[in-house]
Amino acid sequence: MSYQGKVVFVAGGTSGINLGMAEAFAACGARVGVLSRSEKKVESAVAALNVHGSGAMGFASDVRDYEAVASALSRTVDTWGPIDVLISGAAGNFLSLASQLSPNAFKAVIDIDLLGTFNVLRAAYQHLRKPGAVVLNVTAPQAWIPTAFQVHACAAKAGVDQVTRTCALEWGPEGVRVNAIAPGPIADTEGMRRLAPDPAIANALIASVPCRRYGRVDEIARVALWLCSSDASYITGVVLPVDGGWSLAGSAGLTQAVVTAGGVG
Ligand code: HXC
Ligand code: NAP
Repeated sequence: MSYQGKVVFVAGGTSGINLGMAEAFAACGARVGVLSRSEKKVESAVAALNVHGSGAMGFASDVRDYEAVASALSRTVDTWGPIDVLISGAAGNFLSLASQLSPNAFKAVIDIDLLGTFNVLRAAYQHLRKPGAVVLNVTAPQAWIPTAFQVHACAAKAGVDQVTRTCALEWGPEGVRVNAIAPGPIADTEGMRRLAPDPAIANALIASVPCRRYGRVDEIARVALWLCSSDASYITGVVLPVDGGWSLAGSAGLTQAVVTAGGVG
């Protein structure tokens, strides 16, 4: 698949699944901008992207800071031209019972995942190539599968799904598609280190996945390449699970495993 010369911007694109997607687009010839808080992670992601030789830029900013996000997008577009693919994937998560979660902790996750996604889409809107641009939000099956210990992330990602559908409705007439990808449990990611910190929890989770394994970052990246390509040109407003079927089975297995392991929070 070719993204030769295309401009891709990945908010939260400096590690894990989002960096995997950023690298996949770079390997297909795209110029890729990434944004996250840590200067060190931004530097290292830009170095990884530069290996592909198509052009990379990085911005150390917080998606909760609208002006900083807007400035990073303006600098990207001033250098490379309009954005062809916009990915919004910055997120925070940890295990905590709702009854023990502080309002500020709930707000922190809502602000990063949901307000952050709105900030990224809102600031990028004027810079999207019209017609032709594609937006891809990174959500999770927890958006529609209630999952104990994750009230904050469940609520935030449910909001991300509705931002996806609403913007697809509004921006479709301008030739902009807006979709979301919902990874299931993905191996070797910060998300799974936090959500299944114990081998007993990880094994119970795997047992509840119809495909009986964690997914891989490259399995998410390849779907992202496809969904943002002209092969998927009539798909918009979709939240696509790429989860080995986990969301078919629900979250009871994971909940029981966390409780059996002694719980958290
Ligand atoms: C309970 C916690 C907590 C924890 C932080 N808090 N960690 N509460 N359990 N483990 C509380 C703090 O005490 C504070 O509340 C509030 O949250 C804000 O904390 P800060 O440290 O000030 O927030 P901030 O620096 O903004 O960091 C955000 C963060 C952090 C989410 C808390 O963990 C982070 O930066 N995460 C980014 C990386 C990440 O999580 N990656 C995995 C994504 S996986 P008080 O009341 O004390 O002020 C993923 C999978 C989705 O998203 C699948 C399921 C939907
Ligand atoms: P990750 O490596 O922690 O990725 C999160 C990224 O967002 C990092 O680049 C992080 O960098 C950045 N980020 C976090 N807070 C930010 C903020 N306030 N402003 C700007 N950037 C911020 O986690 P991951 O597990 O790969 O998850 C990536 C995405 O996939 C997330 O949207 C997550 O919800 C989703 N997901 C993951 C799984 C899984 O199995 N891992 C499952 C379902 C959904 P900085 O720390 O430098 O800011």
